[in-house]
Amino acid sequence: MKICIIGAGYVGLATGVMFGKLGHEVVVADIDKIRVKSVNSGSLPFYEPPLERELRRLVDSDQLVATTDVQDAVEDAQVIFICVQTPSLTSGRIDIGPVKAACKIIAKALGKSNRRKMVVMKSTVVPSTTDSVVKPILERYSGKKAGKDFGLCMNPEFLQEGSALKDSMEPSRIVVGSDDKRASRELMDLYRPIKSKKIQTDLRSAEMIKYASNTFLATKISYSNEIANMCLRFGIDSQSVLEAVGMDPRIGPLFLKPGLGFGGSCLPKDVKALKDKASQEGYSSKLLAALVAINNQQPSESVRLLEKALGSLEGKRVAVLGLAFKGGVDDTRETRALPLVIELLGKRAQVIAFDPMAMANFIKLMPSIRYAPSIAECLRDADGCIIQADWPEFKKLGKKEFSLMRRPIVVDGRRCLDPEKVKRAGARYFGIGYGLAEQ
Ligand SMILES: NC(=O)c1ccc[n+]([C@@H]2O[C@H](COP(=O)([O-])OP(=O)(O)OC[C@H]3O[C@@H](n4cnc5c(N)ncnc54)[C@H](O)[C@@H]3O)[C@@H](O)[C@H]2O)c1
Repeated sequence: MKICIIGAGYVGLATGVMFGKLGHEVVVADIDKIRVKSVNSGSLPFYEPPLERELRRLVDSDQLVATTDVQDAVEDAQVIFICVQTPSLTSGRIDIGPVKAACKIIAKALGKSNRRKMVVMKSTVVPSTTDSVVKPILERYSGKKAGKDFGLCMNPEFLQEGSALKDSMEPSRIVVGSDDKRASRELMDLYRPIKSKKIQTDLRSAEMIKYASNTFLATKISYSNEIANMCLRFGIDSQSVLEAVGMDPRIGPLFLKPGLGFGGSCLPKDVKALKDKASQEGYSSKLLAALVAINNQQPSESVRLLEKALGSLEGKRVAVLGLAFKGGVDDTRETRALPLVIELLGKRAQVIAFDPMAMANFIKLMPSIRYAPSIAECLRDADGCIIQADWPEFKKLGKKEFSLMRRPIVVDGRRCLDPEKVKRAGARYFGIGYGLAEQ
């Protein structure tokens, strides 16, 4: 089958590689020339090594190509996946400008084609967007009818950055939403080789499943942070508490880890977007408001711990390790490193930062601080350090690295270090939700 993917981002490329691996002919269309060039040379525009290896293999065998000619790519395809970004506006509402632009191009191609095509919405959009925005644009600009002349489905994506290929090949579930039985059946058929649970639903439910899932994950994180913040003040180590909580099969262990809060391209945006959509419909969600509030306060928890150890941060050299929104990726969208650094600068600390992969992206957000070329250089002469992302290399920090610091003080913002190991290596350990720190 000829498949066109619109948007060469995480979702578009993971989806394209997945269908390529299943033997389909894939064209990835993007308006960004640099991204297209990168894909055609077998390189990803972001850090995701296993996905990149498969992409290269597919590009070398001409099974996947990228193009800036979006309309041509759509005209030639039988199935078109919309995978463009839906970023937050300042109100919290999502910007569906890129979705609308993509739909207009698709509609032109639908109008010209005699063959029935299927359009699949994969970008995350609030309930009713596919039937009240996407469908009318496709129908108006093509002169054709959804359900009769072309198929329309909503197929939310659940991949996690850092495991994009695995999550695409073995998703926890595949949700196919459509108000048209034929389109639903066709998309289910396309996914047949993927042996995951499949759920067939209507367009709006498919959109809502994505938001309900992400807001639940955000709830688990903010809940963990609330428990951790209380544990710290009660002199209890939250790690053992949350581990025991997670053993209950009704709760489960994943996403029950304290830290500096959730970031990335999805959770913060999706929480805000659902809250905004609910309020547009006259419902004020107290839970979603609380998630945002708890998340916003978390970076300050690490600053508070550092102040506990150092007193005033004015003039102190603070090393921030990890700038990506989590370890293992180079994505800095909504990274907690940004509010953290801003708060440290507000306290007149001298900030020096390092990340194994995300430094180039973070420099665009915060050009004015110092950046170190290595962990060792970041820690050299520092009065304290804050671990902001759980990169595996930070877990290996020991005597050699801590001895470079002027004052070996470690604030573990992701609870990724072993406190005893840190102490044996001669540093003082302060962890988020680690109430035993100074005992
Ligand atoms: N990143 C994730 O982990 C993830 C996971 C699940 C769902 N999602 C959702 O999937 C969607 C895409 O996310 P992403 O992270 O892949 O986005 P991204 O920003 O990484 O990539 C989007 C791409 O679409 C391109 N684009 C924009 N308008 C276009 C147009 N008119 N024609 C062709 N290309 C166009 C952009 O140039 C960009 O390369 C979003 O709605 C997001 O919320 C993302």
